[in-house]
Amino acid sequence: MKKRLTFFLLINICLIFFYLSLPKDINALEKDLGENLFKNNCAGCHINGGNIIRRSKNLKISSLKRNGIDNQEAIAKIARQGIGMMNGYEDELGDNGDQIVADWVWEQAQKAWIQE
Ligand code: HEC
Repeated sequence: MKKRLTFFLLINICLIFFYLSLPKDINALEKDLGENLFKNNCAGCHINGGNIIRRSKNLKISSLKRNGIDNQEAIAKIARQGIGMMNGYEDELGDNGDQIVADWVWEQAQKAWIQE
């Protein structure tokens, strides 16, 4: 009987540690993923939200708005299909990658690309 109780307690302690080791919120995971996607696929030209090829077409909020890009979906579409001189990165971004990177870009734009 006593053995069983110890076993039961041990299992519970393990479960608690497992729970505590889970990321606090799933958004944090997605944010990391967005940042990585950006670093791997976009930062080459859009370092710090700029644009090394066409300076005026950068990822800062004023430029996005000026060019009628005013939500995540518009950015996701550009990430997927490209725009003007920019190629699309649908294959590189993978499933949902366009949305995830677009959410991250949009959030950075709101924060003026200033890293926390
Ligand atoms: C090889 C360089 C290059 C890469 C890599 C690149 N872009 Fe671009 N991007 C450009 C250029 C050039 C433009 C301007 C296109 C035009 O209008 O002719 C642009 C424009 C944009 C715009 C519109 C900005 C505005 O203010 O009008 C967005 C949004 C954008 N890129 C997002 C992304 C995202 C997200 C990625 C990564 C998935 C990415 N870009 C990767 C070169 C690049």
